Amino acid sequence: MKKISLQSHLTTDWATGAMREDVTRAFAHRPIVLPPKWLYDDHGSQIFDDITRLVDYYPTEAERTLLATHAADIAERTGATTVVELGSGTSDKTRTLLDAFQATGQLERFVPFDVSEATLREAAEMLAKRYPGLAVDAVAGDFTLHLPHLPAEGQRMIAFLGGTLGNFYEEERRAFLGALADTLESGESILLGVDLFKDVDRIVAAYNDDTGVSEAFNKNVLTVINRELGANFDLDSFTYMPMWDPTHSRVDMRLLSLVDQTVRINDLDLNVELAANEEIRVEISTKFRPHKIIGEVTDAGFELTELFAGNGDFGLLLAAKS
Ligand code: AVJ
Repeated sequence: MKKISLQSHLTTDWATGAMREDVTRAFAHRPIVLPPKWLYDDHGSQIFDDITRLVDYYPTEAERTLLATHAADIAERTGATTVVELGSGTSDKTRTLLDAFQATGQLERFVPFDVSEATLREAAEMLAKRYPGLAVDAVAGDFTLHLPHLPAEGQRMIAFLGGTLGNFYEEERRAFLGALADTLESGESILLGVDLFKDVDRIVAAYNDDTGVSEAFNKNVLTVINRELGANFDLDSFTYMPMWDPTHSRVDMRLLSLVDQTVRINDLDLNVELAANEEIRVEISTKFRPHKIIGEVTDAGFELTELFAGNGDFGLLLAAKS
C-alpha cells in the first residue's frame, strides 16, 4: 500500500469551542441564524445520506451523472496531479472523480479534507487500497479557516462538490472564493458543484419531503446543541418550515417554535425566550443562475474553463486561477 498521511489543524476541543461561539452569537440576534456546519455530526451525516436517496432530492444524482460524463475531460483540461476534495466525507462521488483521473495516468496524490478525523481515516484507508499507486494525504480542518495549510505539491485541482457552496451567505461565499484564489497558483483549478435555479416547486420539493427526513435532518441541530452544550430543546415543540426566498434565490430552512417557550442552554448559562412562530434559521441552500456564479468566480480571480450543466438542473463549474 502506498503512503497515507493525516495532518490535523483541529485541536480536540476545537468543535466545542467553535460551537459555543457560534451558538452564543446566534442566540444574541433576531432572527436566530445558526451556521449549518453543526448539522453534520455522525447522526446528521447519516440522515443527509437518507436525503440523497429521496426521489425529489435531485442534486446528488444530477451531480453524479455530470461527474461520470465529464471527469475524464476535466482531468485532461486541468492537468491536475493532485486532487483536493473539500468536505470529502465518505462519498462515492470521490471515486467517480478519481477513477477518471486514474485513467489518464497523471494522478499522484489525493487530499481529502474534512472536519471529521474518523471519517478521514476510514476514507484514506479505503482509497489507498483501491488506488494502489496513489498517495493519500488527508487534512483534518475547517475549510473556512484552514485552506492556507493545504499541501502545495503538484498541479492542484480543488473540488468542492454537492452544492455545499450554496450553504454560504453571499459575504461568506465571496470570502471563501477569495481564499481559494489565494491558496492556488496561477493555472491551478477549482471544480465547484453548484445547484442551479429552476422551477421553484421542484426546488422546494427537494427540501420538503413528507416522509419527515428533511425535518429530522434540520431538527438534528437541536439534538447536537442539547448534547454538546447541555441544552433542553424539545424537538416536538418546533416544526420544520422551508421557504423559498426569491430575492436571494435560495431555500431558507427554518424551525418555527410552536409555542411561547424558554429554552435553557446550561453550558452558556443562557435562557432563550422564543415566541410562538418565531424562527430559528438552520441553513440556506442557494440556487444559482449561471451568469451570477460565473461572475462571482471571475471576480474572485478565476477564469472560467467550462460550466458543465447537462439538462440544466445542476452545474459543475471548472475554472482556473488567473
Ligand atoms: C449538503 C448542503 C448540499 O443544500 O441541498 C439537503 C443540504 N439540507 N436538504 C443542500 C440539505 C436539507 C444540502 N447540501
